[in-house]
Amino acid sequence: MNQNLDGMVIPRHVALILDGNGRWAKKRGLPRTMGHKEGCVTVEKTVEVAARMGIEYLTVYGFSTENWKRSSDEVGALMQLFRFYMVRLLKIASANNVRVKMIGDRTRFDQDIIDGINRLERETKDNTGLTFVIAVNYGGRDELTRAVRKLAADCCAGKLEPSAITEQVVNSYLDTADIPDPDLLIRTSGELRLSNYLLWQLAYTELYVTDCLWPDFNQEELEKAILSYNRRDRRFGGVK
Ligand code: IPE
Ligand code: IPE
Ligand code: MG
Repeated sequence: MNQNLDGMVIPRHVALILDGNGRWAKKRGLPRTMGHKEGCVTVEKTVEVAARMGIEYLTVYGFSTENWKRSSDEVGALMQLFRFYMVRLLKIASANNVRVKMIGDRTRFDQDIIDGINRLERETKDNTGLTFVIAVNYGGRDELTRAVRKLAADCCAGKLEPSAITEQVVNSYLDTADIPDPDLLIRTSGELRLSNYLLWQLAYTELYVTDCLWPDFNQEELEKAILSYNRRDRRFGGVK
């Protein structure tokens, strides 16, 4: 690990919006799909680096509920890449003691992809190192809507009293129920928005945006983000 991080606090949970694959490809005169392919390689490398650094949770935004609006060619290419990388991830997860979890509504995917996701989670569930969370067909509003639906059903079934609904109860209905809130959010490619990512969970997360395009992201960029995080004065609404 780079000397730069000596004595630094390593955030327990880093959330990533990996943006800029299309721009990376465009700059090189390549089709957008090539950017996504290169972006997958960067995801693999980032998982390995994060595991080595001792980050406990890494959550990446792989495909949003809005991304279905892209051309059918691009969506199709992303699904193919997803199929391919799920198999590679099994190897990487085993080699690095990584537990993989998916959040988002997986029911919209083809059955073979659903089977692949379930297999990846099942076969890595006992790994004790980094938890790598992939948000696919994920939207913060969709997650909250699904949670509210389940919660309302439990109320109607008499399993839950409305007056007993606390923040902890709401949290337990989310896809991230067993995952602590992110400490640091990194967005690549310079956009200053959340794009429907982890809307509940990011309430007190520190934000870091870099102009670096996702396929160019590397250990040095991650270290820069962690150094910046270490200079923050986290307050959680209190005073210091
Ligand atoms: C992020 O890169 C990957 C996905 C959203 C799947 P983009 O495809 O959004 O790349 P840009 O923003 O067009 O450069
Ligand atoms: C956010 O990137 C979603 C993912 C990284 C999967 P987008 O490129 O889809 O977001 P917008 O369109 O810039 O808000
Ligand atoms: Mg984008």
